[in-house]
Amino acid sequence: MRTIEWKTRKVKIIDQTKLPRKLEFVYLKTLSDVIRAIKELKIRGAPAIGVAAAYGMVLGYPNLKDAARKLIASRPTANSIAWAVERMLKVKGGKDQLLAEANKMAEEDIKINRAIGRNGAKLIKSGMNILTQCNAGSLATVDYGTALGVIRAAFDEGKKIHVYVPETRPVLQGSRLTAWELKQSKIPFTLITDNMVGYLMAEGKVDIVIVGADRIAKNGDVANKIGTYQIAVLAKHHGIPFYVAAPRSVIDKNVRTGKDIIIEQRDPKEVIEILGIKIAPKGINVFNPAFDITPAELISGYINEKGIFKPSPA
Ligand code: MRU
Repeated sequence: MRTIEWKTRKVKIIDQTKLPRKLEFVYLKTLSDVIRAIKELKIRGAPAIGVAAAYGMVLGYPNLKDAARKLIASRPTANSIAWAVERMLKVKGGKDQLLAEANKMAEEDIKINRAIGRNGAKLIKSGMNILTQCNAGSLATVDYGTALGVIRAAFDEGKKIHVYVPETRPVLQGSRLTAWELKQSKIPFTLITDNMVGYLMAEGKVDIVIVGADRIAKNGDVANKIGTYQIAVLAKHHGIPFYVAAPRSVIDKNVRTGKDIIIEQRDPKEVIEILGIKIAPKGINVFNPAFDITPAELISGYINEKGIFKPSPA
């Protein structure tokens, strides 16, 4: 199932805020529609918002510089938006050529994810319990997924695997999206709350951790969904390998270390409420960073479309 595609002058996306209750598609007709969908997490996940930004540029034609600026500002942490927009700015010609390039990027994303899956599956042995974080699956990409692509590839190769899925507060990409995808694909998994990871590892129930990435600094530090860093620290303590599966397009050569990566701060409502229901008193302080930085020293390797790299992705 495709997360995003171009359909007769519109961008068709799955509205991920409605999952798992409803599988609903929405059609984005203007650049503003695309920006709103990205900000509201109707479409999310680094590669998926990269492709959405490319289509946003098509809809923003001919004001491409302005479109590029607005798209890059929509979500600051993932490198994929800047990467996609810069590629679109290099296109020579008009709207048709821009659309051809955006379509090409969407097709490439699927091929890249499949290559990441093939490469990463070499790390997975039958009987393994794999822990992931957030959703780095089909829904976070055009199709197939990165971290979940590795899991998918290992499963399709016939390996007997089991996945632990942290729910990933505040927006619950784990319980709403990863659990939905794994269920559909019939890959065995167990849902846990975010504060169960340490106990799970101490009990010897995790053999390997595989997560995605939103931006990788030159020194190998990784920005990914909030909670990834604490999982990496726990994995190090318990001697569990911790891998990052992500396309090369998330590597940002302009950023030296993770300290230079901008962390998106999101609406306090996401913490105070769950799916519109208040779970905390009014008028309190809330901290809601959407991502954190995992230092390179905690990472066992980087899986990308070219292979598995240790310890630097470059
Ligand atoms: O806020 P989100 O849902 O866009 O965050 C997504 C993640 O952190 C993913 O792990 C990352 O983008 C990699 S997706 C292949």
